[in-house]
Parts: sequence; C-alpha cells; structure tokens
Amino acid sequence: MILFKLSKDLEDYSQKMRKSADFIGFVPTMGALHDGHLSLIVKSRQKCATTIVSIFINPTQFNNPDDFKKYPVTLEKDIYLLEKNHSDAVFLPTYEEIYGQKVIFKHYDLGYLENILEGKYRPGHFQGVCQVVDRLLNIVKPTHLFLGQKDYQQCMVIKKLIDLMPFHIDLIICPTLREPDGLAMSSRNLRLSEQQRKQATEIYRCLVFLHKHLSAGSLEPLKSKVKDYLTNNGFKVDYVEICDADSLISVSEWDGKQRLIALVATYVGEVRLIDNMLLNDSRIFE
Ligand code: PAF
Repeated sequence: MILFKLSKDLEDYSQKMRKSADFIGFVPTMGALHDGHLSLIVKSRQKCATTIVSIFINPTQFNNPDDFKKYPVTLEKDIYLLEKNHSDAVFLPTYEEIYGQKVIFKHYDLGYLENILEGKYRPGHFQGVCQVVDRLLNIVKPTHLFLGQKDYQQCMVIKKLIDLMPFHIDLIICPTLREPDGLAMSSRNLRLSEQQRKQATEIYRCLVFLHKHLSAGSLEPLKSKVKDYLTNNGFKVDYVEICDADSLISVSEWDGKQRLIALVATYVGEVRLIDNMLLNDSRIFE
C-alpha cells in the first residue's frame, strides 16, 4: 500500500492508474476505521482495479467544536487495517493540503436538504462535507465512489455534488454494518461507555419497531411513540422521522405504497448517533 501526503503525488498516481487500469474506487473516511469502512473497501476491490482510501478528519463539517476535538483517532491501527484489507493507496493530507494557505469556501446549493434532519440539527455540516469531498474527488478523480447507507442524507447530498462535477462518478451506497446486537457501526461508538454502549442498542430496536408497526394512514402517532420511548429512556432525541426514501421529505400520511425510510438522531450521553432503516423497499435512491 502506498501512503500519500501530498495531493499532487496522489493526483499523478491516480492518473497513471486510470490509464493502465480502468476503474478507480475511492473510499473517503475520517479514520477510526471499523468493519463498515472495510466493507466499502471490499466492494471497491470487487469492482475496481485500484482502491484509494483517504483519512482526514475534516474540521469544516463539525458544527460542534467539542465533537471535532473528541473525534477518535486510531491512525496506526487504521493503516494496519488498510494494509490487511489490500487497499492500494491511502491519502493522509494535512489541513493545508486540502484547504491551502488561504482558505476559500465555495457555497453549494443543496436546496432543502441543507435545512432538514441533519442539516437542521447540524447547521453548516453539509457545506463542510461538500468542501472536503469536492476537493478530494478533484484530486483522486475516481470512477466509483463508495459510501455507507448509515449516512443516508450525506449520500443524497454527495449525489447532488457529483452530479455537478465535470467528470462522471458512479456512487455506490453500501449497506450499514451492524454489531451483533444491532447497533450501527460508527467511529463515534468508541466514545461510548460500557453502559452507554448497551443503551445505544435501543436505537436499532426502535427502527425495527417502526418497521414492524408501519401501516397505511397517519404516521405521526408511531413517530411520537418512538420519540417518547427514547426520551423516557434517557436519550436526548434530535429527531425520529419517517420520510420518503427518495426525497427525504417527512411523511405524515402513508398511502401504503410510497417508499419510506425511518431515521433517528439522538444523543447517548454526549455522543450523537444516527441510524436509519428502509421500511418497505431496500432499493437505494431510485
Ligand atoms: O462520512 C464521513 O466519514 C465524512 O463525512 C466524509 C465523507 C469522509 C467527509 O469528510
């Protein structure tokens, strides 16, 4: 595996690889790698001749400075895992390498996606995600981009971003990987105490409950029931939503046919976790 610190070197490498092999797969990460990330690498290796991973904790996407400061860093282990999983290259840029000495932030028109769900509770988050992903994609110029379904809204935002890019990228969204008790794998899980880790399983149980009790008609009582349950069990809930799976617009009345996704964002102690579940159709983004 080749380690790159400079964009120019990675750009040259990627260009050379694109000439000799056809597909370049890219897996952007913020490190603290877990099996969810590794499953993206496996998918990329199945499809692409070259797999490039980036590790960069992007400060511009953290609306909460404390969350940024406490984001887990496990670089040595990450590099070991990438090597073991046959990633071809890893990009470890500094802040300056990504943003330059004089930072110029672009504004991305993300429409309503910027103001709902994660956008509402984490103002500026998706602009920050776009700042970094735009730069990374322009360095790597991959043919395929691999992202996890756990960050469903982020997948939609990045889809919008790549539709605006001057070159074509196939976005491949891979299923959320879960711990044996259902908790979605997330780098932030490392910050949970033993007690919080147990408590966090309730999030998955709630998604399963929503899936099981979904029926045509008003969805508001079901959403409220789950929100109240989490609140009464010590969670600080940002949202429990059931939305149209393609637009992410909240659905109050269900006709029994519309494709739906349930999404939850909640704090367990200080740690904010998100998860989602497609309720009646597992296709992603029609
Ligand atoms: O999902 C993440 O880890 C980050 O948001 C990403 C896509 C690597 C951008 O920093």
